[in-house]
Amino acid sequence: MQSHIENYLKSLYCEQDKEVISFARLNKIPIVDVLTGHFISFILQILKPKVCLEIGCGIGVSMDYILQTPTIERYIALDTNKARLKKCENKHKNEKIEFYNIDGEAFLRENHEKFDFIFVDSIKSRYTIMWHYIKKRICKESLVIFDDVLLYGFLGQEITLIPDKYLNLYEELDAFVRELRYDTKYQSFILPIGNGLLVIKNVY
Ligand SMILES: C[S@@+](CC[C@H](N)C(=O)[O-])C[C@H]1O[C@@H](n2cnc3c(N)ncnc32)[C@H](O)[C@@H]1O
Repeated sequence: MQSHIENYLKSLYCEQDKEVISFARLNKIPIVDVLTGHFISFILQILKPKVCLEIGCGIGVSMDYILQTPTIERYIALDTNKARLKKCENKHKNEKIEFYNIDGEAFLRENHEKFDFIFVDSIKSRYTIMWHYIKKRICKESLVIFDDVLLYGFLGQEITLIPDKYLNLYEELDAFVRELRYDTKYQSFILPIGNGLLVIKNVY
């Protein structure tokens, strides 16, 4: 998104989020983009999910937004980083939420539950394989959101301009979103919010 528009949107919607942003910056903890958080909160008011899964909950900033949805009855939150997960758990003591220090793929391989909403904010190089498992864990009305699919905006750039360290990831993410774009079983769209939100639902 063009930076002046992003700044304008943030001035409209994210005034109250300044504290959490500066805490995360100061401590070098990755958190969801605040506009992404507000969008997720908005879309979940429409979706009204009961059972949610978050892969990569970190210290729980995205959880703050997701939990604004009153219909949620069960929320499974995963993170491979023990310290962040503990911080998240301390902040969100709530009997609806289950916290697991487990890899998202391992969880999806072993768990056979269906989810109304899945938010994936974990390691980008595993998105394709993660999606392979997620497909089996959603139903007709479910919504899946993958965060950061535009790779800091590199996905919209000429391949010659991509720094070497991002080339593999660039190719993997590009292949992932293209494959989904032409998969007739799913509808998907990328919103240029934050680092790119890929929103997916079943066609039928
Ligand atoms: C961008 S941060 C998440 C931020 C969080 N959603 C928030 O807004 O506070 C990404 C998190 O994903 C976790 N992670 C990375 N790979 C993972 C995996 N395979 N399974 C579960 N968590 C993973 C990292 O430990 C990190 O805390």
